Amino acid sequence: MIKISPSILSADFAELICDINEVKNGGAEYLHIDVMDGTFVPNISIGIPVVKSLRRATDMFFDVHLMIDRPHRFVRDFCEAGADLVTFHLEADQPQDIMDAIKTVKDCGKKVGLSLKPKTPAETLVPYLPMLDLVLVMTVEPGFGGQSFMYDQLSKITAIREMLDITNPACELEVDGGIDSVTSRLCKDAGANVLVAGNAIFKAEDRKAVIYAIRNS
Ligand code: DX5
Ligand code: ZN
Repeated sequence: MIKISPSILSADFAELICDINEVKNGGAEYLHIDVMDGTFVPNISIGIPVVKSLRRATDMFFDVHLMIDRPHRFVRDFCEAGADLVTFHLEADQPQDIMDAIKTVKDCGKKVGLSLKPKTPAETLVPYLPMLDLVLVMTVEPGFGGQSFMYDQLSKITAIREMLDITNPACELEVDGGIDSVTSRLCKDAGANVLVAGNAIFKAEDRKAVIYAIRNS
């Protein structure tokens, strides 16, 4: 089953809950919340208090994408703020701290994901794969919405799907960056089942139609 996860990075923050309700009513399964610290990526977005407030305002599934240095310091806070799934970057911590962060999220009773930047090879996931609920492949350099899809990441999506089929078939495979109704088809064909889209959905007149188009392309 394909799940759509609209990224609120491209929403109007002054109208945030209206935008969220619109994508919920448009059929989106997840809500993608991008957290940036200005160090791991060259941009700053939102953090724990926003997740906490939104948790009181909607029952959507919170797909929290941490683009922060040394995420093990903060994963518990995001779980307690109301994340349903906490995904952080493999490149952002030492292997032991990545393991600890995965365990912390699971101890909190939440789902856990690991993300790879475009230059990070699929094989780096191997030690963590059996413990994961989701793998997130970035198809742009993380930091900004509205960038162009990197087609050279498709072979990595295929390779990860093959690894998951062997070691952890229940694990979801999410793609983030430059997804629209054309690139979504390629990602699904490569084996992805969760599609993040920021600009394509939130900058559109008819957001419901775009969610439908991304799902059914
Ligand atoms: C980028 C973020 C993405 C971003 C995607 O660093 O992780 O979630 O919002 O935006 P689009 O869909 O516009 O590429
Ligand atoms: Zn993201």
